[in-house]
Amino acid sequence: MSKPIKHIAVTGGAGQIAYNLLFRIAHGDMLGYDQPIALHILELPEALQALDGVRMELEDCAFPLLKQIHIGSNPKEIFKNADFALLVGAKPRGPGMERKDLLNDNGKIFVEQGSALNDVASKNVKVLVVGNPCNTNCLIAMSHAPRIPRENFHAMTRLDQNRAVAQLAQKAQVDINAVTNVTIWGNHSATQVPDTFNAKINGKPLLETIQDQKWLQDDFVSSVQKRGATIIAARGKSSAASAASSAIDSIRQIMTPTPKGEWFSSGVFSDGNPYGVSSGLFFSFPCRSTGNGGYEIVPNLKWDDFLKKKIRETEKELLEERELVKDLMR
Ligand SMILES: NC(=O)c1ccc[n+]([C@@H]2O[C@H](COP(=O)([O-])OP(=O)(O)OC[C@H]3O[C@@H](n4cnc5c(N)ncnc54)[C@H](O)[C@@H]3O)[C@@H](O)[C@H]2O)c1
Repeated sequence: MSKPIKHIAVTGGAGQIAYNLLFRIAHGDMLGYDQPIALHILELPEALQALDGVRMELEDCAFPLLKQIHIGSNPKEIFKNADFALLVGAKPRGPGMERKDLLNDNGKIFVEQGSALNDVASKNVKVLVVGNPCNTNCLIAMSHAPRIPRENFHAMTRLDQNRAVAQLAQKAQVDINAVTNVTIWGNHSATQVPDTFNAKINGKPLLETIQDQKWLQDDFVSSVQKRGATIIAARGKSSAASAASSAIDSIRQIMTPTPKGEWFSSGVFSDGNPYGVSSGLFFSFPCRSTGNGGYEIVPNLKWDDFLKKKIRETEKELLEERELVKDLMR
C-alpha cells in the first residue's frame, strides 16, 4: 500500500531556484523515494506562462512519485491543504533600491502568504522561507499565521552552513562528512556568524586540525559571508542550484532525527532561550530534530570573545530589520 500523498507548495515557481528545486522534490530527494507527492506551485500572474512551461517539463520527466501538479497565482488556492510550503518567490533587489525598500516590498508578499497559509494550509504545515531577507520575511509570515505552531517556521541558513562545511573540508583536506557541528548564528546576510569554535572534524574539536586562527577568523568568515556576492560576480546570476539543494537539506534535516551528538543550523523563532538572544526574532541557531518536524535548540555551546562580538552584531541587524517592518506585523 502506498503512503498518502503529501502536498508541497513552492512559490516563485518560474524562478531560477525553483527550476532547480521542483525536479528534485518530484524525484523524491526531499521526502524519500517512497513518498507520493502533489506539487502546488505559485507565481505572479505575469509569470504563469513561463510556469506552464515548467509544468510541462515536470510532466515530461514522468516521475513515478509525482501524482498531481497545481499551478496558479492565488495563494489561497495554491496553499490549500499544503503539508510543506517552501516560500522562495520574492523580488530581487533592484538598482538603487535601499534595503528598507526591499524589506518593505518583500515583507508585503509574506503578509499575504502567511495569512493564506493560516487560512487554508494543513495546520501542521512546515514552512521554509528562502526569499530574502529570509529571517525577517519568516517573522512576518509567522505573525500572520497564528493557527500554525511557530516552531513550524524556518528561515533558510543551511546554504551558509553547507558553504562553510565545504570550505573547512577543503582547508583540512578531509571528506565533507568528516566536518560536523558547524553552526551559522544569526541572520542570513553578510553579518551571519559561521562558528568554527564548536565545530568538529572527525568527531574532535576542529581547532585541533585547523590551527590557523587568522584564516579562521578573517579569510574563512568573510568568504562564507560574501560567497553569495562572489557567485553573482562570477555567474552574473545569484546562486540557484546550491540554494535549491540546501532547501532540500533544510526540510530533510527537520524531518529526520539528527544523529547523536550532531546538529544543523536553521533560522528559528527565538524566545530568548537558551542563549539570551532577543525574543521575537528568527535567528539561526544550532538545532537538533526529533524527526517529523520537532526540534530543540542545542544548549550550552560556549562563545569565545570573537563569537560574542559577532553574534551581538548580527542580532542588532535583525532588531533593525524588525523595526523597519513593524507596520507589516500582526
Ligand atoms: N536563504 C538563502 O540562502 C537564499 C539563497 C539564494 C537566494 N535566496 C533568495 O531566494 C529568492 C528567489 O531567488 P531566485 O534566484 O529564484 O529569484 P528569481 O528572480 O529567479 O525568481 C523569483 C520568482 O519569484 C516570483 N515571485 C515574485 N513575487 C512573488 C509572489 N508574490 N508570489 C509568487 N511568486 C513570486 C517571480 O515572478 C520570479 O519568477 C530571492 O529572494 C533570493 O534572494 C535565498
